[in-house]
Amino acid sequence: MPNTDDPTRKTLLDLGAADAAAIAMLFHQLRARFIADLARASEQRNWQSVRSEWLGPVGTIRARINENWVAAAPAGLQEIVRRDLDNLISLINIRLTASQPLEQLVGNDPDKVAGQFQNLRIAFDSEIVACVDETDLGVSKVEWLGRKSGVLSQITDNWLKPATPELKRAVGAGLNELRAHVEAKIEERRVAIESGTEESALARERVDLSLPGVVRPIGSHHLIRQVFQDVEDIFVSIGFSVVEGPEIETPYYNFEALNIPEFHPVRDDMDTFYIDLPKGAPTPLLLRTHTSPMQIRTMEKQKPPVRVIVPGKVYRRDNPDATHSFAFHQVEGLAVDTDITFCDFTGTIEYFVKQFFGPGVKTRFRPSYFPFTEPSVEFDVSCIFCGGSGTAASGGTCGKCKGAGWIELFGAGMVDPAVYGFVNYDAKKVNGFAFGMGMDRLAMLKYGIDDIQVFFQNDVRFLRQFP
Ligand code: FA5
Repeated sequence: MPNTDDPTRKTLLDLGAADAAAIAMLFHQLRARFIADLARASEQRNWQSVRSEWLGPVGTIRARINENWVAAAPAGLQEIVRRDLDNLISLINIRLTASQPLEQLVGNDPDKVAGQFQNLRIAFDSEIVACVDETDLGVSKVEWLGRKSGVLSQITDNWLKPATPELKRAVGAGLNELRAHVEAKIEERRVAIESGTEESALARERVDLSLPGVVRPIGSHHLIRQVFQDVEDIFVSIGFSVVEGPEIETPYYNFEALNIPEFHPVRDDMDTFYIDLPKGAPTPLLLRTHTSPMQIRTMEKQKPPVRVIVPGKVYRRDNPDATHSFAFHQVEGLAVDTDITFCDFTGTIEYFVKQFFGPGVKTRFRPSYFPFTEPSVEFDVSCIFCGGSGTAASGGTCGKCKGAGWIELFGAGMVDPAVYGFVNYDAKKVNGFAFGMGMDRLAMLKYGIDDIQVFFQNDVRFLRQFP
């Protein structure tokens, strides 16, 4: 089973690595992972397995880094990733060589020993010239001369100590030479870095204007935000304004002023998240369960005519499943004036639905119940997946509308006159309509998304489909 957490199976963009420092950190983690793999392989004396897993040509860590990191890197980062990969490969080769018994590499032939030391020397030389400052040099010094697990200590343990009498002399000589070479070169480099610090700092800080810049990925609006925008544009175009309200509400606005007194059974559906408050707080507070409290807040502030929509987040103690989330999004609508009829209501809603889903959809109302509207309706649209036929393209029952040909969209109704009493409107003179739509479900319907949870998981593979 491939390990899906393995970063080499993802692109740098997926991993959020957008600059050289983040890439260096990824390679640093890979180095640690390789050292752990190598320790395990050494215990089982199975170095070949770790070599094939890391360096083999196909389906290996190196191949994945090439494919997912180097090839998919933004132009400005490609060179950096390639260089870091080369360094990693060099480290793997050195460490694999130094952790095996010498016999495994040269048999019992002393003439081949010098060649092995020569390879190590070449690897060391290319590493040391790439050191540009004290930090790089410190890392290389530990890597090669570190007492516990430096390359030379490993060679002492794995090549020299167990060497056969035939090989021992050649190994001892090669090791002494390599150690002298490493120590001399490190010192030489240290002096060069010290004297050239200023020069090299200038060189590093010099800006090469011919290089491509670092391309930082630019985000886009979340699909829910885009759908909010579409809905707002449609309603604004027919004279509604957009208002927003608090997500933390009092029970008065969330329930009572909407004609839902305490102990009304309708509250059970919306039993919600209450906020822990200090003893003696004047009123309980809760996370609003719908955007309807803004009907009251708007009418308290403004005399008729009122035409507003209210986009926002709402919260309910619902168990998450494919169509439910404990936090979701609604758009409330409210129109109140002296001469608003049920026809204005149906006309407005139908206009919105056709603008939003396209002229082909049909609409229908069904009787329903909300304490703050009378009459209340549920508003359905013909199923956009099967065209309202109830039959899927495959010939079976449409899974989205379960064969009904209709999908429930939202609740609405004419404002209950009792509500006007809470905002000092004269119920004899005004009338109006209100509706409350679930944005997440609207987006799911329009874009054929079958699980609401994807909106909250922030998986860039999903988000990128809606740029
Ligand atoms: C209400 O929230 C009423 N305030 C709507 C209303 C406003 C009626 C004005 C009349 C006048 P309801 O509980 O049905 O109604 O929720 C409205 C919409 O929110 C639902 O149609 C659905 O699309 C969405 N919704 C409800 N619960 C969830 C949930 N847990 N997860 C995602 N969407 C939900």
